[in-house]
Amino acid sequence: MPLVTLRQALDEARRGGYALGAFNVSDVLQAEAVLDAAAETSSPVILASLAGVTAHGGDERFWSALHHLIDGYPQLPVVLHLDHGPDPATCRRAMDNGFTSVMIDGSLRVGGTPSSFAENLAVTTEVVAEAHRHGVSVEGELGTIGGSKTDGSRAPIVLADPDQAREFVTATGVDALAVAIGTSHGAYKFDAPPDGSVLQMTLIEKISSLVPQTHLVMHGSSSLPAQLREQNNRYGAGLPESWGVPDAEKVRSVTMGVRKINQGMDSHLAFTGAARQALGTDRLNVDPAYYLRPGREAMQRMVAERMRLFGQAGHADDYQPVPLAEMACRYTLETS
Ligand code: 13P
Repeated sequence: MPLVTLRQALDEARRGGYALGAFNVSDVLQAEAVLDAAAETSSPVILASLAGVTAHGGDERFWSALHHLIDGYPQLPVVLHLDHGPDPATCRRAMDNGFTSVMIDGSLRVGGTPSSFAENLAVTTEVVAEAHRHGVSVEGELGTIGGSKTDGSRAPIVLADPDQAREFVTATGVDALAVAIGTSHGAYKFDAPPDGSVLQMTLIEKISSLVPQTHLVMHGSSSLPAQLREQNNRYGAGLPESWGVPDAEKVRSVTMGVRKINQGMDSHLAFTGAARQALGTDRLNVDPAYYLRPGREAMQRMVAERMRLFGQAGHADDYQPVPLAEMACRYTLETS
């Protein structure tokens, strides 16, 4: 099956009443884990890559290897998605490399400070115009998702404003909208199990009712399972105790209108925990296959479990892929 767009995948998800996980991958082994999980569960799948974050010798090499890998899964609808594109040039680079979906994160200026609403609107509109000319989908972001850094500090969270959401979607024409509801990226999220004062789930409901045609996205959705943190720490890591988004809240978000659930850290924890365990158990074996294989397999188990949780399992056969040229025509008709 040729690659599908995010728009088509999330339209299907709305019809089927489920969400798709967007799983971050930074090398082909992780991508293989996600695709094998999708094949195992018969799921449509979103592979998410961050520009500049790869174990390979550059984005272009990694992305080209990804296309080759995806060709081996002709039965699956696969969205190739750029996560958090920082500027139009990076989004263009992803499109030139065959991505069917790009996120333009106009919520932050280059350097990391929150941008103004007008700045976000302008840069997102620019990317949408170019992407839609090619049939490629666009995700924008409203408010800022928090983020933990390796020094333990945290980037601030600015909650999405429902009134701005309507204006943003109408003005930009984005296909999907990441809404900041209190989640945060990374391995250090909350100091206690998050309650209603941390995760503003009702914001999702409110925004969804104002922009019913736009697919909502929840970032920073890793759960940070304690047993994976403990496994990593037992074999040399030093991860502090932290709580992520409970599975039940993710499932609830789907009933409120979320169609794309971003998670990367849980699979990193699963992959690295299994690899650390293999390295710590056999101190004589230095062939990387010895520790990378259990890492890949642990990540596949984690991703398959989430695919079942989000409801995307069993939906791979629902698709008639729409070519990019046809998507481009539809966008032209929508705006004319
Ligand atoms: P986590 O850091 O919770 O895995 O979220 C990833 C994410 O939102 C990528 O955009």
